[in-house]
Amino acid sequence: MASLSKPLEVIVLAAGKGTRMYSDLPKVLHHVGGQPLLAHVLTTAHQLQADRVHVIYGHGGEQVPTVIQDDSVDWVLQTEQHGTGHAVLQAMPHVEDEAVVLVLYGDVPLIEKATLSDLVVEAAKGALALLAVNLPDPGAYGRIVRNSKGNIERIVEKKDASDAELAIREINTGFLAAPAVKMRHWLSQLSNDNAQGEYYLTDIIAMAVNEGYSVVSQNPATVTEIEGINSKIELARMERQYQSQQAEALMAQGLTLRDPARFDVRGELSIGRDVVIDINVIVEGKVELGDNVSIGPNTILRDCAIGRDTEVLANCVIEQSSVGSHCRVGPFARLRPGARVADNAHIGNFVEIKNSEIGDGSKVNHLAYVGDSKVGGKVNIGAGAITANYDGANKNQTTIKDGASIGANSVMVAPVTVGKGATLAAGTILRKDAPENELTLSAGSQRSVKSWKRPSKNK
Ligand code: UD1
Ligand code: CA
Repeated sequence: MASLSKPLEVIVLAAGKGTRMYSDLPKVLHHVGGQPLLAHVLTTAHQLQADRVHVIYGHGGEQVPTVIQDDSVDWVLQTEQHGTGHAVLQAMPHVEDEAVVLVLYGDVPLIEKATLSDLVVEAAKGALALLAVNLPDPGAYGRIVRNSKGNIERIVEKKDASDAELAIREINTGFLAAPAVKMRHWLSQLSNDNAQGEYYLTDIIAMAVNEGYSVVSQNPATVTEIEGINSKIELARMERQYQSQQAEALMAQGLTLRDPARFDVRGELSIGRDVVIDINVIVEGKVELGDNVSIGPNTILRDCAIGRDTEVLANCVIEQSSVGSHCRVGPFARLRPGARVADNAHIGNFVEIKNSEIGDGSKVNHLAYVGDSKVGGKVNIGAGAITANYDGANKNQTTIKDGASIGANSVMVAPVTVGKGATLAAGTILRKDAPENELTLSAGSQRSVKSWKRPSKNK
């Protein structure tokens, strides 16, 4: 941390299996807000400007570092889980004596930077600082035992607690910070003589007290910060909690959400002024919405940018695409990766666009497919028209120049070019370039058969 003279080394405990998740995925890789639980914790550790971040991993083996892909992390394997004290001990050979050590948990994702900074500041001043909370129902948490003067004496785990201790409502969140030298010294004295046969990190509190070392406690701003995940029920609850935080932060910036309970951000959303989002919209990856953009219900926006005054109607999927200003998209439009729609364009119902540029003021209003194409400005693409961009082996390019008009149900067999101002008659199968400003037709001339009779049923 920049404000401290001492280096900060964070140790994240993430070796647990998560038995109650009933999953092959290690617990810390389950997602909240579209990101693994552990990734949230690492983001916070990095925000604290930790000099080193050590992650203790175990269950799921290499899966954890492989999925997280954070090269700045010191990955420490704990092959067998003998308790939280044993886990922290695994990182200690990599920690320098001058540092302050902060212990975090890979399955407690919503802990706030500010809460942790307070602990670090206390530890840097030479204390063992722990994060405590008062709970009406202390459940399975370790209880904080204080003496008659109100000073912390020790922590007792639920399984080791007497009836009187079980009644204590002040609990240990698990988060703590202390100078590295002291931590090393206390951890070396741990024993596993307790109800669970584990090396408890929490036993260092009594050791510090017995040495007359300063032990202080602090509280988080909200209880949500310290909540961990042990089951799919808790995971789902935390997802809602996280989503309501996201929604509130965005509404505080001026976003209108028709219903914040039916809105999910699994990434990052940035908004201009007067943006309106209807219900059941999912935002994934990095999404930017300009001033006055409105997003219709049941729409998925994934890694895309939408320009000002553009209206996205119901039931669209827009992915790795950009849409200019003053456009209208949908309902039921699908913009696949590489769709780049300029200003004032209309992309209508059941239209699919992939890896294509659509020029200023162009319209693709009904049931069309445009793939691997460069479409100029003021082009009109009629209902049912498609680019046949794939010959079974390669993708080929279609070019449609400014002002062209593509008749309904035309097939543009790529590679092919439609010239400036050219018109394709309805049902044209275009296999050669269409010259500019001319009408191109491919079908034979229309004829009627006078003698033809409708088939009738055999008797
Ligand atoms: C711990 C605390 C308890 C506190 C509670 C808060 C101890 C002894 N007890 O209890 O006072 O109220 O957290 O949730 O510290 N882990 C490892 N390796 C291990 C053991 C644990 O990585 O060998 C990880 C687990 O994956 C888990 C975390 O450490 O994420 C906590 O371990 P757990 O055994 O669940 O501790 P609790 O019994 O919850
Ligand atoms: Ca636990």
